[in-house]
Amino acid sequence: MSATPATPRRLSVADIAKLYADGARIPMLTAYDHPTAQLLDEAGIPLLLVGDSVGQVMLGYETTVRVTMAEMVHHTKAVVRGSRRALVVADMPFLSYSTPAEALEHAGTFLREAGAQAVKVEGGVRTARIIEALVRAGIPVMGHIGLTPQAIHAIGKVRVQGKSRDQARALLADAQAVQEAGAFAMVLELVPEQLAAAITERLRIPTIGIGAGPGCSGQVQVITDLIGLGDFVPKHARSYAHVRGEILAAATSYAADVAAGTFPGPDETVRMDDSVLDEVLGRGASDRPAGELPAGGIPLDRDL
Ligand code: KIV
Repeated sequence: MSATPATPRRLSVADIAKLYADGARIPMLTAYDHPTAQLLDEAGIPLLLVGDSVGQVMLGYETTVRVTMAEMVHHTKAVVRGSRRALVVADMPFLSYSTPAEALEHAGTFLREAGAQAVKVEGGVRTARIIEALVRAGIPVMGHIGLTPQAIHAIGKVRVQGKSRDQARALLADAQAVQEAGAFAMVLELVPEQLAAAITERLRIPTIGIGAGPGCSGQVQVITDLIGLGDFVPKHARSYAHVRGEILAAATSYAADVAAGTFPGPDETVRMDDSVLDEVLGRGASDRPAGELPAGGIPLDRDL
């Protein structure tokens, strides 16, 4: 009897907890579209974040504040369809979780309509009651503290969070609040490495760092930074490929080939039986009495 290849089982928050308990460092990447999700899934990335960074890196917005629910649902659906094993986390956009009721409605849309398995919300102490409400409703939540880009207009500019004594104390309190509210993991963004390591040591859930040093339980990168697609790579990111240059070279060569008439060539072209076309155009030996226009064909101007 031939064995049917098993469809990989979608990871759950319990699987992420197991990775953490086993001491594995957890890689997470952002994904916004179907083919990228397929590749990242094939690479074995256990956590895919449909980040609201999609607004900046894919949609051309200046900040994540402009990203809407409709845009996030659209991209989340593509990532869910493209992945079979990874746990897909959908980022709740700005002002979509101001009250528990609003948060439940929108998180419900991500799970029910878009097919995500978890959501991410920004904020520590200030967001704890929202996290609690979502978790009580059975919705897995990833927290996000440190730099919270949706608050950029309040913060002023992108900068490391937690360097001063007061800020560091506040960040420890945020981390504690997110954990106690029931989150299964939390992103630490732009936090000094010693503080990120100290937070990580004090928690029972994984921290996923971005610009927070190697002492976190896992790391997350924005996919366009990882593959070198964007026009700017932040200091904390590492590009493992340089796709921008490849796309530029491909598009330039293509344009040159079209201009030279060398694309498409014989390999990219389909031919038909010439006699069939001759018949259709009335060029066959039998179907065109002298001086008459083709019977069924579309005459060329010069034939008229
Ligand atoms: O939106 C995003 O990509 C994020 C990551 C930077 C964690 O929130």
